Amino acid sequence: MKPIKAIVVGFGDRGQIYSKFALQNPELLEIIGVVDPNPVKREKAKKLYNIKDDMCFEYPDALYENTPLADAIINATMDRLHVETTIPLLKAGYDILLEKPIANNVKDLMKLKEVAHQYNRKLVVCHVLRYAPFYVKIKQLILNGEIGDLISIEANEHVGIAHMLSSYVRGKWNNEKTTGSSLLMAKSCHDLDLFCWLNSSSEPKEVVSLATRSTFIPERAPNGAGTRCMVDCQVEENCPYSCKNLYIDHNAFPHLIWDNINGKDYLDVTMEEKVESLKTDNPHGRCAYKVESDLIDQQSVMIKFENNTTANFNLVGGVPKSGRRIHIIGTKGEIEGYLKEKEFTLRKYNVHALKIETELIKITEEISDPHGGGDMRIVEDFIRTLRDEEKSISSTTIEDSINGHLCGLGAERSRKEGTIIQLVDLT
Ligand SMILES: NC(=O)c1ccc[n+]([C@@H]2O[C@H](COP(=O)([O-])OP(=O)(O)OC[C@H]3O[C@@H](n4cnc5c(N)ncnc54)[C@H](O)[C@@H]3O)[C@@H](O)[C@H]2O)c1
Repeated sequence: MKPIKAIVVGFGDRGQIYSKFALQNPELLEIIGVVDPNPVKREKAKKLYNIKDDMCFEYPDALYENTPLADAIINATMDRLHVETTIPLLKAGYDILLEKPIANNVKDLMKLKEVAHQYNRKLVVCHVLRYAPFYVKIKQLILNGEIGDLISIEANEHVGIAHMLSSYVRGKWNNEKTTGSSLLMAKSCHDLDLFCWLNSSSEPKEVVSLATRSTFIPERAPNGAGTRCMVDCQVEENCPYSCKNLYIDHNAFPHLIWDNINGKDYLDVTMEEKVESLKTDNPHGRCAYKVESDLIDQQSVMIKFENNTTANFNLVGGVPKSGRRIHIIGTKGEIEGYLKEKEFTLRKYNVHALKIETELIKITEEISDPHGGGDMRIVEDFIRTLRDEEKSISSTTIEDSINGHLCGLGAERSRKEGTIIQLVDLT
């Protein structure tokens, strides 16, 4: 079989990650085109994938009116562009691997689902955690009935200091008005999707949420804090959020911090340019306590499903120990573990011996990305989907991806309005 030919729309961080699958598996995927208004990104894609000049485009509308120039699109544009670029691309005849969050409101979410259905296109959302072997093994145990019917799922996501700062406090997702995404939708629509996938025998029914911004606020700024760490701060040396410490001394999240400095690829930015940018116009040089942002930094969400399973999710940004934890309780047993630790515990009650039997299940698969191994596995499954081959248990159609997003959008409405949201009222 010939490889699937794909055009990457948005050759930023995520577009580059998914495209790498083609370098590693040329017999399965070939990147034949790129769309990106940034000439540095277009040039990078062109060189890496030997893309012809006439397949490099500034904007996706170049693809809207033509007959399809490829088998598929990888749409890795930023959040606000997902709906406006995906709808015409579906109509133009492309199957699409689309980054999350799908949309930032229910109307657009449902519209996208309808268009995919109407034009009979495959639209796969990058719910990469479904593909992480850690969650796949948990899903298999649930499907095998090992813990019986699901009673409760508790999960949390604790976002580490460097990640929280680089993406959500000073970074490009730090403002819902600008990006269109709340912290919950940008960071944790994955977790809400996992709830719906793990409990897929039922539908989510009600959601309620409370949230606040309590860490990254001016009131917490210590005496002597300035406006920019490397310009006018007297306490920079001992501040956990110092941009000098995070980005100059430890090079945290370089693709986010140095993207587009003086029009360069982040790998080409010199130390002088880095220091100068943090002192002047780099948003990552600002005092973390004083950045203007409408994002919350902690949130709790409760979901009740039609089958009475409840799910509780706790999201906290800017913590020392980062990671995702899950604890699932069923009628016959329970599962508990941390994604990062690459193992989880299965517990069952042995009635005859009157004791708890515990099994430690280790993840032995190779994991080479921050999503527990999901990033490359989803591309592989997308290719299987396009070839109408047998799908994995992680496969997600657009219809299937919608429930987690509805929970997220419902939770946002709940915390803003102070009410319990019936999800049926949202659609
Ligand atoms: N699945 C996940 O786990 C995961 C993780 C991180 C980010 N994301 C999501 O992936 C998406 C991309 O994030 P990123 O960090 O790669 O962003 P990015 O800014 O690095 O990349 C976006 C790219 O789109 C390009 N672009 C801008 N306007 C465009 C247009 N009109 N047409 C085509 N390209 C355009 C930009 O020049 C840039 O190169 C976001 O929606 C983000 O929320 C998903």
